[in-house]
Amino acid sequence: MPKIIVLPHPLLCPQGAQFEVNVGENLLACLLRQGIAIEHACEFQVACGTCHVYLRKGYDSILLPSPVEEAVLDQVWGLEPDSRLSCNVRIGQADLTVEIPKYSRNQ
Ligand code: FES
Repeated sequence: MPKIIVLPHPLLCPQGAQFEVNVGENLLACLLRQGIAIEHACEFQVACGTCHVYLRKGYDSILLPSPVEEAVLDQVWGLEPDSRLSCNVRIGQADLTVEIPKYSRNQ
């Protein structure tokens, strides 16, 4: 089973987190299930950008962003090359290291 490592975030996950998931699961759903209350204003519709995360490791193990995701990513705070919308990420075979941005689009 792949593992998700969440780097510490001062509000949402102060100690960081580490947990196992199944291949094919939705990353945002996994984070929420672990009690990491990342914003998701559009409820998994790939429209709001509030579920933005950085995939510091494992980026290459998942499918590339869709054109719709890329268009929304262009609007997020702090866009970086390993930015993704967690609601549009299906877990692959490899472990993922996730960093939650300091700010979301709503702040
Ligand atoms: S929850 Fe809105 S883009 Fe992911």
